[in-house]
Amino acid sequence: MTAHADNASLPFNPQHPVPHTSHLAHPGTPLLEAHGVVKRYGKFVALHGVDLTVQPRTVHSVIGPNGAGKTTLFHTLTGTTGVSGGTVVFNGHDVTAEADHQRVQRGIARSFQVTSLFANLSVRENLRLAAQGVKRAGAFDLWHPPSGARAHNDVVDGVLERMALTRFANQTAGVLSHGQQRRLEVGMALAAQPLAIFLDEPTSGMGVDDLDEMKRMIRGLRDDYTVVLIEHNMNIVMDISDTVTVMQLGRVLVEGTPDAVRNDERVRRAYLGNMITGGRA
Ligand SMILES: Nc1ncnc2c1ncn2[C@@H]1O[C@H](COP(=O)(O)OP(=O)(O)O)[C@@H](O)[C@H]1O
Ligand SMILES: [Mg+2]
Repeated sequence: MTAHADNASLPFNPQHPVPHTSHLAHPGTPLLEAHGVVKRYGKFVALHGVDLTVQPRTVHSVIGPNGAGKTTLFHTLTGTTGVSGGTVVFNGHDVTAEADHQRVQRGIARSFQVTSLFANLSVRENLRLAAQGVKRAGAFDLWHPPSGARAHNDVVDGVLERMALTRFANQTAGVLSHGQQRRLEVGMALAAQPLAIFLDEPTSGMGVDDLDEMKRMIRGLRDDYTVVLIEHNMNIVMDISDTVTVMQLGRVLVEGTPDAVRNDERVRRAYLGNMITGGRA
C-alpha cells in the first residue's frame, strides 16, 4: 500500500473544515524560510548555518543519522530554543526572536509527547483543551464565546475523524494503545488549527499495523496543512515526502525529491550504504 492512494479510500474524512488558506499571508511563496541557522551549546556547534525552505501544502522530511541536528533544528524553528545565529521567517513574519507560544499563534504547531497527554481525561477533552489553548491573533471567539465553543467542537470533531479517533472520543487517553496515543498527539497539534505541523518521529515505537495508518494520515495532512517531518522509517519518508532534506553533523548534506535523495551517493555514504533504501535496495 503506497501513500499515493486516493483520499476516497482513506479511513478518515479529509474534508474537515480548515479555512487556513485565508491565513496564508503570501500564497505561492515559501511558508517557512530559515537562513544560516546556527545553534551552539557552549563550545559544541549543533547547527552550522542551516538553510531550510518549506513550501506550503507539502510534506517536507528532514532525515539524517542520529546526532545530525534534526531535533535541534526543529527546536529552533518552533521556538523551543533560541538560535545562536541566522533567521527564521514564517508566513512572512520574522519569528527568530519570538517565543514558542508566540509562534503557535503564527500557526506553528509541534506534536505533543505522550507524556503531555492528560491520561485521566477523555480523548475529546484532551483535544478540546488543545483547541482552546490557542487564541490566534485577530480571532473573534473572545467576543462570541458560544459560537467560539461551537467552533471548538467542530474543530475537535474534525480532528477526531481525521486521526481515526472518533470511536475512542469518550475513552480516557490513558487506556489508548500506543499507536492511538501517538495519533492523539498529532491530533493535539492539529486542534490548534496550525498552518504548519512539525512532527518529530511520530512513528517511533509503533508496530507495523499502526505504521501504515499513521503514514496515510500524515500524507493526508498535506491537503490542508504543511508538514515538516523527522522520520527514521525510510519507507515512509520515501513514499510520502515531496522534499527531503538530509542532514549530517549539523549541516544540510543534500536536498531534493525522494528519488534524487535515494540515489545520491553522498547520502548513501552518510548512511553507510544501508537504511536509506528502506530495504528496497
Ligand atoms: N541541550 C543540549 N545541550 C548540549 N548538546 C545538545 C543539546 N541538544 C542536542 N545536543 C547535541 O546536538 C547534537 C544534535 O542533536 P539532535 O538535534 O538531537 O540530533 P538528531 O535529532 O538528529 O538525532 C548531538 O550531538 C546532541 O548531543
Ligand atoms: Mg532527534
